[in-house]
Amino acid sequence: MREFPQDFLWGASLSAHQSEGAYDLDGKGLSVQDTRPRDKHDICDFKVASDHYHHYKEDIALLAEMGLKVFRFSIAWTRIFPDGTRKVNQVGVDHYNDVINTCLQHGIQPIITLYHFDLPQTLEDLGGWSSKETVQAYEQYCRFVFKEYGDRVKYWLTINEPNIMLLVDKKILGKEIPLKAKYQQFHHLMIAEKLAIKACHELIDGGKIGPTPNISIVYPATSKPKDNQAALYFNSIRNWLYLDFSVRGIYNPVAKDYLVRQGVMPEVSEADKALMKEHIPDFVAVNYYSSVTVEFPENADDMMNGISDQQSEDIMERGFYKGFTNPFLEKNEFNWTIDPLGLQNTLQHIDDRYQIPMIITENGLGAYDVLTDSGRIHDPYRIDYLQKHLQACKDAIAAGVKLIGYSPWSAIDLVSVHEGISKRYGFIYIDRDEQDVRELKRYRKDSFYWYQQVIDTNGSEL
Ligand code: BG6
Repeated sequence: MREFPQDFLWGASLSAHQSEGAYDLDGKGLSVQDTRPRDKHDICDFKVASDHYHHYKEDIALLAEMGLKVFRFSIAWTRIFPDGTRKVNQVGVDHYNDVINTCLQHGIQPIITLYHFDLPQTLEDLGGWSSKETVQAYEQYCRFVFKEYGDRVKYWLTINEPNIMLLVDKKILGKEIPLKAKYQQFHHLMIAEKLAIKACHELIDGGKIGPTPNISIVYPATSKPKDNQAALYFNSIRNWLYLDFSVRGIYNPVAKDYLVRQGVMPEVSEADKALMKEHIPDFVAVNYYSSVTVEFPENADDMMNGISDQQSEDIMERGFYKGFTNPFLEKNEFNWTIDPLGLQNTLQHIDDRYQIPMIITENGLGAYDVLTDSGRIHDPYRIDYLQKHLQACKDAIAAGVKLIGYSPWSAIDLVSVHEGISKRYGFIYIDRDEQDVRELKRYRKDSFYWYQQVIDTNGSEL
């Protein structure tokens, strides 16, 4: 069957710090995203972003007009607990109550990410994910929001892209740390996720929860056996380490060999082992933008490519793998590789390993959109990208993959992690630029009408 199931969850996604703005209003504490310096060029920070904090009613009404069944957004931990733990900020709690109720009034089910890159700065100052206290604070925060919103919200996501946070941590967490410390953070993050799964199942009747890694299949650059080894190792380090921990409750064996050889294997207590095995997610949420290609770094003095495809090519570890520009694939304006069949490959690999339901929670094209004088945004390039990736989803479903939903990036324009507001992903254009926030007026892009039609026909017309 080459059709989407009738109850398919058509959605679109956002994260709090990239869209909300109001970074210090109504009792919100600062997160590491509010304090981190921006990249080299003159790009905006997250202070105003798309001002979704003040426009959420209008935004959700537009998303309902587009036909969404689900809306993925994240809660800013620092709106609930400004210092990360202990003291609750009731204004923040009320805000998300209102956001959730607005979604439900429009017939949209929220899918909530508990944590999307925006660790409370107070916790970072106390050691961040290197410290077990952050694990406890995260568990306390999760339990609080489950009790508060779990009567209405049934779908939860634990931690957005722990793998990208760790692999490109300079850009997201604000500083580079030694490998040993990085993998200790990995262990803490993944144990925190297990505690969230446990709490969700204990506290929410019918609650479903899943991990949200960025999973991209890794191809070898050539058929040389060494390049195949490089792909084997990078697949395990980038992808399976995370999913094996979440879904199987184990350290992936190939990744473990890498960790041992590098002398950075974290301590795993007996209590951790029990937690890992006992608390298993209900589904896997997949963020996918590009596939990845690697070669074996032959020369001891090999350097990173220095090219700017952060999702796939700007990677290298001596003795293991090095990013490689795949000559068979196109790139977007920001040098990110485009590979729709890679999405089908990725979904089939996950299915082959875990046989668990999946939902795509990010997939999309960042581009320089232009607002015309007549208030239109013609974005055929985005429609083309999404159309091809949805076709890949259909083909994956036909091949037996249990894909339950598709929630692309992003619902509305937001501030890109690496490139500011100029790199736009949304179905809805936000009128502002890097320096001038103007009136932040909302405009429907051509892709808005296209996606509306896709949802209306349950994907039979792409
Ligand atoms: C994902 C993140 O890795 O990539 C998003 O979860 C991010 O937060 C997206 O926006 C696209 O990356 P960028 O750098 O173009 O914003």
